[in-house]
Amino acid sequence: MAQLYPFTDPRAAETHAPRSIAKGDNVRVTDTEGNTFVDAVSGLWCASLGFNHPRLIRAAEAQMQKLAFYHGFMGRTCEVTDRLAKRLVARLPGDLSHVFFATSGSEAVESAVKMVRYYQNARGKHGKKRIIAREGGYHGSGQMAAALTGMSYCHDGFDVPLDMVVRVGRPHYLRDAEPGETELDFSRRMARELDQTIRREGPDTIGAFIGEPAMGSGGVILPPEGYWAEVQEVLAKHDILLIADEIITGFGRTGNWFGCETWGIKPDLMTMAKQMTAAYFPMSAVAMTAQVRDVIADAAHGMGTFGHGVTYGGHPVGAAVALETLDIYEEMDLPNHVNALGDHLAQALEIIGAQPGVLEARRAGLLAAVEMNTNEDAEAVVEAAERNGVFFRLIGPVIAIAPPYTASRDDLDEVMRTLSKSIEEVMPVMTTA
Ligand SMILES: Cc1ncc(COP(=O)(O)O)c(C=O)c1O
Repeated sequence: MAQLYPFTDPRAAETHAPRSIAKGDNVRVTDTEGNTFVDAVSGLWCASLGFNHPRLIRAAEAQMQKLAFYHGFMGRTCEVTDRLAKRLVARLPGDLSHVFFATSGSEAVESAVKMVRYYQNARGKHGKKRIIAREGGYHGSGQMAAALTGMSYCHDGFDVPLDMVVRVGRPHYLRDAEPGETELDFSRRMARELDQTIRREGPDTIGAFIGEPAMGSGGVILPPEGYWAEVQEVLAKHDILLIADEIITGFGRTGNWFGCETWGIKPDLMTMAKQMTAAYFPMSAVAMTAQVRDVIADAAHGMGTFGHGVTYGGHPVGAAVALETLDIYEEMDLPNHVNALGDHLAQALEIIGAQPGVLEARRAGLLAAVEMNTNEDAEAVVEAAERNGVFFRLIGPVIAIAPPYTASRDDLDEVMRTLSKSIEEVMPVMTTA
């Protein structure tokens, strides 16, 4: 066992080796034993154009032939990366107007947090540095990104800087609402609790709030009615920046180009990765408003440089792949395409929502979830589905669904038929009850 595998029990992997994937064909992957699966979560919510798109392969190869590497440090840049920056800026929601490139989602989150600190220092607000993050939020594996993540297994044993994080609740209406509480009441209570937390901790100690427009790895939690409007009002009152983590929701997933558009969010900073290159190249970015950028630019000018960046940030091959990905998204008429496929999924979700053991089926665009009553039921369903040829993502009681945009209607039917059949298989007692 030469690898220490991420998010895997290393001892369990010694006796039960991870399934080894050898090749991909659009939405399907095949393992080394010849078993083929439809991947209903696009790998890690990222392979939005399937696993071997010929145009992305050609774009990477052509860029490698032309210029396989150059950097963006100390007075150099890549022509193709500048082109991508312009193209992204034209697409960004709200007042976002500048981008900074890194390689992974975690690096984008680390960069965004450092930018918040730099910004607050430049404004003379030296104590305003802690970041509010939510239970169940996932923001990556860097020191700060793991601390922001609201999952204890990302903290335990790692000594991540939890003292820099102020934790608030997750907006999971289904599980956490009080009896008789409407969605809007629930959102207002969440906002009141946020306000109380900020007052208790001291608004002058808090620099930013980070949140995924819809939570992904925390269980595909779609924001309840009014949630983001209420939260933004509280943040604005206390002069707290908003970082939208769009690493899963960005580039069409929720039925708009960005989750910020789906839920009326106006962030000061925004992180993106994954579907930016359809996962064919590790590339991420932080977007920021002109307000944030200008404060940072002036401070950095005073010091003679902006002392932050990574060797492969804005990699020319990643930029070429991202540009081709954007071309493909535009040609497929992205939000409309995702919404049409999402509507197709909706009919099957409705039927599955009424199956035994299922608490709720929910969806925004092509981001969907089936929440079972118990973790055990969900685990049994996901295992049965894998035996039946489809990969889903198990998150506690939640079965996550986020298929590639290149899935055909037949592929989606196969995914949902398999899910339904797998639920029937593992819930036989209740089926006949
Ligand atoms: C919302 C969100 N933020 C950040 C990350 C971290 O990205 P990466 O794994 O590329 O470091 C992820 C990864 O799943 C994510 O879903």
